[in-house]
Amino acid sequence: MKHLVSITDANIPHLLSSAHNIENTFINYKFNKILTNLFYEPSTRTSSSFASAMYKLGGKVISINDVNYSSVAKGENLEDTIRTMGTFCDAIVLRSRTAGQAARAAFVSEVPVINAGDGNGEHPTQTLADLYTIHKEFERLDNLTVTFVGDIENGRTVHSLDKALPDCEKHFIDTFDKSIWPASDIYYLTRVQKERGSEGSYRMRKEHIKHIPEHAIVMHPFPRNEEIPTWFDNDPRARYFQQMRNGLIMRMAVLSNIFTEQDKYLDT
Ligand code: NCD
Repeated sequence: MKHLVSITDANIPHLLSSAHNIENTFINYKFNKILTNLFYEPSTRTSSSFASAMYKLGGKVISINDVNYSSVAKGENLEDTIRTMGTFCDAIVLRSRTAGQAARAAFVSEVPVINAGDGNGEHPTQTLADLYTIHKEFERLDNLTVTFVGDIENGRTVHSLDKALPDCEKHFIDTFDKSIWPASDIYYLTRVQKERGSEGSYRMRKEHIKHIPEHAIVMHPFPRNEEIPTWFDNDPRARYFQQMRNGLIMRMAVLSNIFTEQDKYLDT
């Protein structure tokens, strides 16, 4: 895995097993790597979990969490910023405002670029966290029924997860659709991406919850707005806080795989 721009760049079975090993064994990594967190859009979970993952692996982080305090504010283009940071670090986590910018960055970068969300494009590491959550629950990633609810058009987490589950039955219910959701194993809810021009709102109501099977799980990449009432947090079907924890583990797996491969390459 040189770059992780799309979920299709990931070796999913290998990463699931790496995440499982990391969660169950103490691994003392010897590397002394530096990661740059370069964020052109706000983030809580993605930037903090990458930083935490890096610290837990024994590495260090340069954080540019608000590009307005970098040379971007002086008009520097993406390529120059990527080339600059690539001389100071061993990998770059990039969150960008427009679909395709992670691929643009990867094209010029000397170090691996990990797409932490590119506009309404993709968000592969959120998807890997989601897949780890699903796999822990059902011990498979196929023959499941998944209902996506919310911002289908502009939700990048939906786009990557949809690509990663080719052998599942999928339903897409958008913000304006007030129908009862189909019986499913997984309900994947997303926020309405107002910053990308999406409109409308929806809320998981009692009549929806009544139809969610006992064995099913409710997921959400967060942040949430009004989609899931907070009283549902203690429901045994809620999995969104587990997704966050799994995101940390999975990001450790992604980083350790990238750096192990990088060191192999340097040794030869
Ligand atoms: C998502 C994102 O940034 O795409 N958040 C995240 O990384 N967990 C979802 C969102 O912003 O709605």
